[in-house]
Amino acid sequence: MRRVYLVVLFVFLSFTGLNAAETMAVDDYHSYANPNEVIVTHIDLDLAVDFEKKQLSGTVELDIDVVKKKHKGPLELVLDTRDLAISKVMLITPKHKPKRLHYRLGESDAILGSSLTIKLPGMVAHKKAKIKIEYTTSPQSSGLQWLEPEQTAGKVYPFLFTQSQAIHARSWIPLQDTPQVRTTFTATIRTPRQLRAVMSASNDISPVDNGIYHFEMPQSIPSYLIALAVGDLKFKSMGERTGVFAEESLLDAAAAEFEDTESMVETTENLYGPYLWGRYDILIMPPSFPYGGMENPRLSFITPTIIAGDKSLVNVIAHEIAHSWAGNLISNATWRDLWLNEGFTSYVESRIMEKIYGQDRAAMENVLGYQGLMEDLENLDKADQILAIDLQGRNPDDAFTGVPYTKGQLFLTFLDQSYGREIFDKFLISYFEHFSFQSITTEDFLPYFKEQLFDLQPDAVEWSTIEEWVYQPGMPDSTPIPQSDAFELVTHELQLWLAGEKTAEELETANWVVHQWLYFLNTMPDELNQSQLTQLDSAFSFTQSTNNEIAHAWLLIAIQQNYDFAYERLEDYLLNIGRLKLIRPLYKALAVTDDGHKFALEVYQKARPTYHTLAVSVIDEILNWSN
Ligand code: BES
Ligand code: ZN
Repeated sequence: MRRVYLVVLFVFLSFTGLNAAETMAVDDYHSYANPNEVIVTHIDLDLAVDFEKKQLSGTVELDIDVVKKKHKGPLELVLDTRDLAISKVMLITPKHKPKRLHYRLGESDAILGSSLTIKLPGMVAHKKAKIKIEYTTSPQSSGLQWLEPEQTAGKVYPFLFTQSQAIHARSWIPLQDTPQVRTTFTATIRTPRQLRAVMSASNDISPVDNGIYHFEMPQSIPSYLIALAVGDLKFKSMGERTGVFAEESLLDAAAAEFEDTESMVETTENLYGPYLWGRYDILIMPPSFPYGGMENPRLSFITPTIIAGDKSLVNVIAHEIAHSWAGNLISNATWRDLWLNEGFTSYVESRIMEKIYGQDRAAMENVLGYQGLMEDLENLDKADQILAIDLQGRNPDDAFTGVPYTKGQLFLTFLDQSYGREIFDKFLISYFEHFSFQSITTEDFLPYFKEQLFDLQPDAVEWSTIEEWVYQPGMPDSTPIPQSDAFELVTHELQLWLAGEKTAEELETANWVVHQWLYFLNTMPDELNQSQLTQLDSAFSFTQSTNNEIAHAWLLIAIQQNYDFAYERLEDYLLNIGRLKLIRPLYKALAVTDDGHKFALEVYQKARPTYHTLAVSVIDEILNWSN
């Protein structure tokens, strides 16, 4: 019975142009939505941006399709919301006048927000319909950060940006906030005249200045990829289909730093098939942006902290470009499957880096990634070391650890080495094509992998090894441990210094690149004395390093070893950077001692109002902040 029904459903959905993987709903415990009954297929936004009230207000129109009629009770559309004020819900059909609908906002859950249940009249079951919702966001909406002018590079105009991943889209749009639902979208954004709006959609690269911006995203995407930013933005082209949006003072430096963007896109196309999103542009964010990068389609949001002057940190760009295949073309259907996004992307990122900057650089980055994973594993419960992680009852942002990234990447590297690169590349090309514009679970991936690769060479790998990678904690014995010759040199010099055979000045570091310095700092012993720290600092000026990753690695050591001299720089660093990956370990290290904790609280008092809410909740917890 059920099977027959599914076949009918499948035929119906193929006919309507929807595809089965999108609509045969999987259980997503991070959403109230009911896409197995009613599914949203298109979103049309019309929002005004009010910097004074710190709110977006306007309407959203949702195109809906009834997937399955209920046997009992009225048909309902259930949406996700958080901190939204809903003022009106209307039904729009081609032939009838707009009709007000009854709706109910559920109780608010700390992680999930509130459900918005809209009663649909029976006629909707047979017709195309739109649901129009009038609403405003609130100043504390988790997906929005409203910045004061002082928090921007120019210091004259305010700035607004969204961060929808993982489940924050619901705090600025009422929608089905589960990545298994894919929609196209259009938008009209009304800004104060001087300020420009950009979105994860088609962006006009020649600006209008009437403050009304129109956007279109014709490819279907999950809700966590809907993004908006508003600020005093200028554009500079970098290549045929690539460019940068940034505040004017950062524009040239950014375009120079990221000049390889076009060739990164080309390289990925050569590896895995065509780039299907039209343009690829970069938006340089204010420094409080909580992530390194966010793969908003057509327009990656990028932290300014990677503009180092020497392209040493551009792997973040390669990473976000890689998401145009792994993540945006094929998306995780639930947050349990985040590794399908981040593991595949980290693997592709490394392949891009290898092609453009050579094997040595890719190898160094892989070793550094592995070091990070080892540290994370020491601090993670067994259950959180599993690729297909159980996040029930938890905030999906908790899954942002080295596990989906680097363990996921190593799994693919293991497959690459087991089957041979040529065969594995062919498999990936077919994978990206087969599931394109779909959202899939781990259990959709595994049978496809089994059929398309595993079964063709049954002797290459045991199935139990595959299951161990995906479903077991820790690292399998089959882990391909990354190695780097360039780092051997670093270890050699470090040993000479630690043994007292050379002073810091005498070390052969003249040709070292940023990654080697990072490795040098990361592999320092746990105990160093003050004179050793002073010697290192006077030889290499770590405290004054303008490379944010090197400064981070050094400041971590300074905290652990009570190197007072670096504390002024530390304060400055924490006040000017809001990227979690860079600040969280520093606060954590400070919180270990009473003095450190006291210092951290003093700095945090000043920094907290400038951080993104995501960063605030993480640092609040580390410091036991209350008030
Ligand atoms: N999509 C992620 C950021 C993210 C993950 C946001 C989970 C919210 C929840 C983005 O692509 C990313 O991975 N950024 C990394 C880049 C790095 C691994 C090169 C970052 O921000 O550090
Ligand atoms: Zn990523």
